[in-house]
Amino acid sequence: MAAAIGGLAAKAGHSVEVMSRDAAKARALAEQVGAGATTGTFGAAPVGDIVILAVPFSAVLDVVKQYGEKLAGKLLVDITNPIKSDFRVFLTPEDSFGAQEIAKVDPANATIVKAFNTQNAQVLAAGPIGGHPLDVFIAGDDSQAKARVSAFIDSLGLRPMDTGRLIMARTLEHACMLWLGLMTHSIKHTNFSIRVSLLG
Ligand SMILES: NC(=O)c1ccc[n+]([C@@H]2O[C@H](COP(=O)([O-])OP(=O)(O)OC[C@H]3O[C@@H](n4cnc5c(N)ncnc54)[C@H](OP(=O)(O)O)[C@@H]3O)[C@@H](O)[C@H]2O)c1
Repeated sequence: MAAAIGGLAAKAGHSVEVMSRDAAKARALAEQVGAGATTGTFGAAPVGDIVILAVPFSAVLDVVKQYGEKLAGKLLVDITNPIKSDFRVFLTPEDSFGAQEIAKVDPANATIVKAFNTQNAQVLAAGPIGGHPLDVFIAGDDSQAKARVSAFIDSLGLRPMDTGRLIMARTLEHACMLWLGLMTHSIKHTNFSIRVSLLG
């Protein structure tokens, strides 16, 4: 997902900084992303104001805790799907959801917007399907932050679709289950996208 989103962002003219626990991996990814993407030190304050949390949900809470105050003032984009590797069970408590668990551990109280989690990485990287931009569903409590993320998504050639407040991230995380169910039982491959068709 870092390669897909970072690649689209670099192509659209945004400055991209890649962070990895492994400096060599960060350099390789920055090279793949291209367009002058740079690397930062894992755990140090990111340069950009939008931070994409492109790590597994099983790691993201520790990552956010580790960055701690370095995330102060940043806009965090939660793309995670907190789903076990058997694709059946959520990793989050029943009365919670991934974005909320991230918000709970974020000491810097950064603004969180859920986005991108219903799109497959390869599909995202491949771009529009049949001339239609892909839909990126977003959810968040801060309307200014959502407007910034929407503008970012739009700049990547994708269609931002605001679904409401951060609590809707729970629905978006369930939509990943929908995607997985469709992939397993109906479509049998991963080259598809959930989108909204506007009739008239
Ligand atoms: N793949 C998709 O199609 C897709 C679609 C929608 C949403 N998502 C969500 O997007 C996120 C990233 O997905 P992905 O498929 O790109 O994931 P991934 O390739 O499995 O992992 C991304 C990176 O996370 C870092 N990482 C792993 N464990 C870590 C740990 N314990 N601490 C710190 N960093 C760790 C690793 O980077 P380094 O080793 O370089 O540090 C790894 O390359 C996930 O939350 C996933 O649910 C994925």
